[in-house]
Amino acid sequence: MKATHKNEFGGAFLLEKISLNLEREIAHATNKMKRTHIKELAGLVGQEVVIKGWVDIRRDHGKLIFIDLRDASGKVQMVALPNHTEAHAAAGTVRTEWVLEVTGKVNARPERMVKKDEPNGAVEIEILGVKVLNQATTPAFDVSSDGKEIGEDVRLKYRYLDLRRPRMQVNVRNRHKAMHYVRDFYTTEGFVEVETPMMTKSTPEGSRDYIVPSRLEHGKFYALPQSPQQYKQLLMAGGLERYFQIARCFRDEDTRGDRQPEFTQIDLEMSFVEQADVMEVQERMIIGLVQKLYPEKQIQQIPFPRFTYKEVMEKYNSDKPDLRKDKNNPNELAFFWVVDFPFFEKNDEDVGGKGSSGWTFTHNPFSAPKPEFMNDLMEKKNIGDIMTTQYDMVLNGYEIGGGSIRNHQPEALKKVFEIMGYAPERIEKNFGHMLHALGSGTPPHGGIAFGFDRLIMLLQNEPNIREVIAFAKTGEGKDLMMESPSEVDPKQLKELGIEISKKK
Ligand code: AMO
Repeated sequence: MKATHKNEFGGAFLLEKISLNLEREIAHATNKMKRTHIKELAGLVGQEVVIKGWVDIRRDHGKLIFIDLRDASGKVQMVALPNHTEAHAAAGTVRTEWVLEVTGKVNARPERMVKKDEPNGAVEIEILGVKVLNQATTPAFDVSSDGKEIGEDVRLKYRYLDLRRPRMQVNVRNRHKAMHYVRDFYTTEGFVEVETPMMTKSTPEGSRDYIVPSRLEHGKFYALPQSPQQYKQLLMAGGLERYFQIARCFRDEDTRGDRQPEFTQIDLEMSFVEQADVMEVQERMIIGLVQKLYPEKQIQQIPFPRFTYKEVMEKYNSDKPDLRKDKNNPNELAFFWVVDFPFFEKNDEDVGGKGSSGWTFTHNPFSAPKPEFMNDLMEKKNIGDIMTTQYDMVLNGYEIGGGSIRNHQPEALKKVFEIMGYAPERIEKNFGHMLHALGSGTPPHGGIAFGFDRLIMLLQNEPNIREVIAFAKTGEGKDLMMESPSEVDPKQLKELGIEISKKK
């Protein structure tokens, strides 16, 4: 206690250490030693410990057998000496990726053997006892390398092994840290995380839906959400005012390096806001994320530059150019916003069943036009010139997020669908719930969604989003580990009232 009074941090640390050692001694005396995590070993020289983990490498020099043991916290070199006969014999049998419980003594390495750049470089474990917790078949590939030399299909097939490699461990753990930061940030800002349904309704929103058949109503289907767009607006109608969600989204579209059929958004919506309010909060979130979790990275320009769609297209012929000054420097982050997109673009698709109206939305049908174009929208004139309140955030050549202020008055939303050629019955059938909600006293609102996988991919300097998704799908949308998609039992199909017309 004295120490705690004198120096709060040093004292508390000392007390903690004393009680840890005491616990260890009691456990040792009663023959029930607690597991020590490998990262703690450096501070326990001279003590006997129990560590548990995987065999990273084993080098058998006959008399001396060296084993590197790895757990989630780190790696340590252990040595089996011939004088501990039983332990030495056991160490001789183990193989890579076996799971062990090792009792050992933490020894300081001789000065000249210290590996300064490794966390446990100054210690070595003298093996006193080995208990094999599980054996392992010969691994399909080496998990100690960065894995880039191995074909991706085989990595995805044995993903549980692949996840053991240090690079994947860091990716998954840093993704978690970012998710934790995001949850904390929005919670502190007064946002409420709400989970929205996964089984929802198919709406013509952009991409193709994944659909789920109903057993109770044959011929009817749920759709997996392409995004929580409608639900988050309905939460604004529901008075939440500030919503966010780490949301899973599903889109049946061609997979690419920056696209997966199933991906994660940081999704949010705010009431009583204008474009600048939404953008300000997000810019703060992103800057804080980089500064807190990736301090080695430099943001090229703060506040983030803003360009109009016309400006970027004229200058770079792309709406997501890579504006890094030095593209070889992975620590350079060139964020910027793009605004003033056209609301509609020409389209030949016959969405209304009465021939094409000639127009479809460029980003999001629920967006509001910029205020100065509201009249044109309501009168359905100068359609090609109407600009939307859409804002996209771009990072190093990737669109990492996009959102807009929404039409919060039902008449305006209706006009969007009319311009796209939807018949009144179709508008009512597909979007009646939205129109009624907007008409029930919905405040002005707007939001955004970030592609979380894309953001982490860029921050982790990875070439594609599969590297930052624990269980990713292939370019063809397959899960090679689970072998999905797969056929289902004919009984299941019968229950659902589904017949497969022709097998390939
Ligand atoms: P949008 O469709 O632009 O907007 O999606 C938002 C962000 O999600 C990421 N993204 C993807 N990431 C991985 N795989 C995919 N298949 C994929 N598709 C999109 C992108 C994109 O910027 N509801 C609106 C947002 C809003 O207006 O609030 C929406 O989903 O980084």
